[in-house]
Amino acid sequence: MLVNKTVVLGITGSIAVYKAADLASKLTQVGVRVEVVMTESAMQFVTPLTFRSVTNQSVITSMWEMDSEFSIEHVALADAADIVVIAPATANIIAKLANGIADDMLTSTVLATRAPVVIAPAMHSNMFQNTITQENLGKLKARGFTIIEPSYGYLASGGKGQGRLAEIEKIIGTIKQVLGRDGDLAGKRVVVTAGGTREPIDPVRYVGNRSSGKMGYAVAEAARDRGANVVLIAGSVALPEPPGVEVVHIQTALQMKEAVTRAVAQVDVLIMAAAVADYQPKSRAVQKIKKEAVGPELTLEMVRAPDILSEIRGNFLRIGFAAETENLIGHAREELVKKQLDLIVTNDVTAPDSGFEVDTNQVTIISRGGKMDSLPLMSKRDVADRILDRVAEMLGER
Ligand code: CTP
Repeated sequence: MLVNKTVVLGITGSIAVYKAADLASKLTQVGVRVEVVMTESAMQFVTPLTFRSVTNQSVITSMWEMDSEFSIEHVALADAADIVVIAPATANIIAKLANGIADDMLTSTVLATRAPVVIAPAMHSNMFQNTITQENLGKLKARGFTIIEPSYGYLASGGKGQGRLAEIEKIIGTIKQVLGRDGDLAGKRVVVTAGGTREPIDPVRYVGNRSSGKMGYAVAEAARDRGANVVLIAGSVALPEPPGVEVVHIQTALQMKEAVTRAVAQVDVLIMAAAVADYQPKSRAVQKIKKEAVGPELTLEMVRAPDILSEIRGNFLRIGFAAETENLIGHAREELVKKQLDLIVTNDVTAPDSGFEVDTNQVTIISRGGKMDSLPLMSKRDVADRILDRVAEMLGER
């Protein structure tokens, strides 16, 4: 997690510097110590005061202004960094870093650090696509730097292209992922399903459910932040894709089954947080169903959809969710046995703080051996981490 980590945030001279103030602020708000280093050209766009105000730390702007106490500050800063993030990164800084140039505080710090380095380029698309810039980025990647691709859209110079600083949430997600690389799920492959499925009735209508996908997404992000390689198979959700996670979008239970089958070929853990349809319309009308043709009553014939968790077995941990409205523990225990799960997570979806769409959940985790852990109400992210604590334990026992 990010709390108490030291992020050295390098700011270089791109119009996107104003977005970096938001990044510095958001990181500070979640308990990160943000040490901002600005280059000369960055200060043409924004003054250090902006960053000092949002980080509550003094901003480093030069190697030479340091009093004697900080005469070798770049080494001290390089050592203190848990991660160095350069956002926005110009073509110029990328070129310097690729060639080992250390002519200012930021480049010297990067050359001296052993911490991971993340670069978020922002520049005109022609400069970004220039072979030299691409070669330089290739060199940095080969040396283990993480590059966050700029996004496509309006550029300050007019016109459109790929060159805009990546979204702040994406940068923060990447920082979490990089910091978690040595976590307790490092190298483990985890498949998570999330959201509800939609079973089409005709080209316009479907049978769906109220799942928002928030619980599954929280599990996927938490697993990523603990070092896992995560595949997230998502049904209907309205959530941004978590960076550093491979997302597969599907609609129906059948498509989800196919995606899970493919994804579990080489996997350590399957976590089925999705609300999968138990029934699907027996047939799907090719054209939109018209009232005039049907009359006053419409009967929909439904047949069983595949029960993914029951049907997909293998040499990996299988974790289910039981969203219930009554007799929670009884149903969950039955399901644990029936589907031969390693763990089941149950919650009462009628409770206002633990149902659909909300950010909190109150769950009970039951293990194969019968061990029961009733957790208090907490954020879905915290629930995710408690589930993954058990997963890490179980993987250790195998
Ligand atoms: N599940 C699944 N495939 C289905 C239905 C559910 O893989 N067609 C998974 C869910 O992702 C969840 C678990 O099975 O992890 C429990 O789902 P739930 O619908 O609560 O339970 P069911 O076994 O379908 O039992 P019932 O609907 O009868 O309560």
